[in-house]
Amino acid sequence: MTTIIKDKEAGATVPATDNIVWHQHSVDKAARAANKQQQPCVLWFTGLSGSGKSTVAGALENELHKAGYHTYLLDGDNVRFGLCGDLGFSDDDRKENIRRVGEVAKLMVDAGVIVLTAFISPHRQERELVRSLLGDNEFIEIHVDADLATCEQRDPKGLYKKARAGEIKNFTGIDSVYEAPIEPELYLDNGNNPVSMSVQQIITYLAQQGHIK
Ligand code: ADX
Repeated sequence: MTTIIKDKEAGATVPATDNIVWHQHSVDKAARAANKQQQPCVLWFTGLSGSGKSTVAGALENELHKAGYHTYLLDGDNVRFGLCGDLGFSDDDRKENIRRVGEVAKLMVDAGVIVLTAFISPHRQERELVRSLLGDNEFIEIHVDADLATCEQRDPKGLYKKARAGEIKNFTGIDSVYEAPIEPELYLDNGNNPVSMSVQQIITYLAQQGHIK
């Protein structure tokens, strides 16, 4: 088992082996971002399954892409087909899931990209860990809020039904915790508002913060 040590000051993970030296390459984040004419960041969508994270993130990516911005959407279900295919839904596995995604998102920000992530990411601690990996204003936490009853009624994948029947264990909101953000950069009332309104809310924020023009 590899030991992962977090260096709090550097906001980086310290290698588990010795004799590893960081190489500073000459093309840096600022240079890559300048070429793309955008300020890279991570838009971290968090919320219950069925709250609309992937839907809003997808619709937003569409708009940003049409406007010529360089984006990438890391989707919870999709990364479990590859990068996180060995992980389940225990607390430890979810923690590792978010740690890996956080590191990938950080690399993509270094590449100058506007990254959108759609993960339940139920624990505050893990979301704060990702925040600590990134620079000031680079981590934008977006609470996609819809109450459990609404998500359960939508049940787009039929998973709540299975969880209620006891066929899925550790299902978020049923027998596994969801810790809502306390002070997210953005709050979306996605139980009541249309997707288009949520998308507009985020675009306005990105422009205000200078990530896009
Ligand atoms: S996270 O908790 O580790 O952030 P992630 O976003 O990657 O979760 O995956 C959530 C998706 O996996 C859900 O949208 C749902 O489709 C599926 N899923 C399967 N089992 C579970 C479970 N026990 N709890 C929550 N989601 C599950």
